[in-house]
Amino acid sequence: MAGDIDREGVEKAYGRWAPIYDLVFGKVFDQGRQSTIAEADRIGGRVLDVGVGTGLSLSEYKRTTKLCGVDISEPMLRRALKRVRAQGLSNVEALAVMDAKNLAFPDAFFDAVVAQYVITAVPDPEATLDDFIRVLKPGGELILVNHIGAESGPRRVFELAFAPLARRLGWRPEFPWERLTNWAAKHGGVSLAERRPMPPMGHFSLIRFRKS
Ligand SMILES: C[S@@+](CC[C@H](N)C(=O)[O-])C[C@H]1O[C@@H](n2cnc3c(N)ncnc32)[C@H](O)[C@@H]1O
Repeated sequence: MAGDIDREGVEKAYGRWAPIYDLVFGKVFDQGRQSTIAEADRIGGRVLDVGVGTGLSLSEYKRTTKLCGVDISEPMLRRALKRVRAQGLSNVEALAVMDAKNLAFPDAFFDAVVAQYVITAVPDPEATLDDFIRVLKPGGELILVNHIGAESGPRRVFELAFAPLARRLGWRPEFPWERLTNWAAKHGGVSLAERRPMPPMGHFSLIRFRKS
């Protein structure tokens, strides 16, 4: 369902979230953030953090991991830049306003691509995932953490009811797991390496895809 979230709407939503983002989403998303960072650091080299937001993740990577961070929201990214300067994070090579679907990086440039709580907020997740894989080196990993919608039951009912409001806040709560597996099957150049339940309440997943 491409087009059910629009880029300008998401940009505006995160412009509004920026001043309070760390307070609202700092702690609650921390374990997912830490776990994806551990996976990226295991690979090392050059890592792209897409939808880096206010840069909460940046100081948590090993200093030997070289980082580029991109985000569609300038107000979010401004906070990330402030963090990088205040903490002297010299391993952050670049921060740039950029659409996750049109990454201005060459093919096979990164050892890992990390997207924390991003893929359900983009208008066209499949095309966005394609671009993540394009910029990955062969053998590199795409490391996601995201809320994955329930397949049935009361949680599914709640997520569907909440979806219209959630879209205005900037994400899709009912995003189904099979959307990712269908994308991987169609892409053909990636394999699922892991799906790991994450808090809060295991409704989130850490997901790793490896580029062939
Ligand atoms: C829920 S926040 C996650 C921020 C950060 N990764 C974290 O762990 O706190 C989602 C981020 O994705 C960014 N985003 C949404 N759509 C995007 C797009 N099309 N291209 C790049 N960034 C996007 C938003 O601006 C926001 O900063």
